Amino acid sequence: MRINNFLVDRRSMRDYRIKGLDPEVLDNIRKLLKELENEFKDGTFEFRLYENGQLIFNGLEGIAGYSGVMIESPHYIALDLKKNDDRTNIYSAYYMEKLVTKLIELDLATCWITVNDVDVNLKKELFGESTNQINFILAFGYPKRNNPFSKTPFSERIGVEEMVYYKEIGQHITLEYLEQIGLADTFYYLRFAPSIKNLQPWRFIVTDDKVHLLIKCDEGNNPSLVDAGIAMYYFEELQALQGTKNNWSLLEGDFTEGGIKYKYIAEYQL
Ligand SMILES: Cc1cc2nc3c(=O)[nH]c(=O)nc-3n(C[C@H](O)[C@H](O)[C@H](O)COP(=O)(O)O)c2cc1C
Repeated sequence: MRINNFLVDRRSMRDYRIKGLDPEVLDNIRKLLKELENEFKDGTFEFRLYENGQLIFNGLEGIAGYSGVMIESPHYIALDLKKNDDRTNIYSAYYMEKLVTKLIELDLATCWITVNDVDVNLKKELFGESTNQINFILAFGYPKRNNPFSKTPFSERIGVEEMVYYKEIGQHITLEYLEQIGLADTFYYLRFAPSIKNLQPWRFIVTDDKVHLLIKCDEGNNPSLVDAGIAMYYFEELQALQGTKNNWSLLEGDFTEGGIKYKYIAEYQL
């Protein structure tokens, strides 16, 4: 499926059939995990697949996920960071979301689960002594059959005008201009990217030959690097769909505007 249609239909699944996947399918997923790890040359993160989801679910029930609402699935994949720098946090999320697109192609469903507040010792007990830093895991499996009478839940998204600015934060950008520089479709579809608590913290500043990605920091002034990595993945894919095959380059720096802190994440040459 083309990545633009994929994004519009992409949903987090919180209701799985508990039956596990065939061993053959799990083996193919293990191969896929290795391929994606190797694509990121730094080697600073690892995917770890846990076949016995029941064990992980029992250990994290009431503790992990939003307000302790753990999601039950037959298997999980943990994202283990061997280095806790910005680059690893950003690109591990980039590849985790790339993994999500591959799993959905296999007719599976997924949901990111936040585990960063879970006690380190409990995480070592559940995920293994040799793990380093696990902030997020992925529930995956076959979705429960949808009730044909209920609508698929949809999480609202902000408009392009709240996300994309011209030359500086707050400066309006016109649709005509975005069309002229070939970014109108990319931003239209990018809004459907998933983010923690659906906060959609991505902000873009467009100049005549570049796009800057910034993250609007939370109340504690922390930027969500994982949301940045996910948006970077989809932005590159959406641009590639239109024949532009550039990659983001990471940037440093931050500034405060209207009492809100923004962190520079990366720039993309048009
Ligand atoms: C990094 C990340 C962490 C997330 N953590 C959780 C979580 O702990 N529990 C949960 O139910 N959903 C979690 N989600 C799913 C988001 O809430 C969801 O993507 C967002 O609300 C948009 O909804 P949609 O994915 O159905 O479009 C997470 C998503 C991301 C990207």
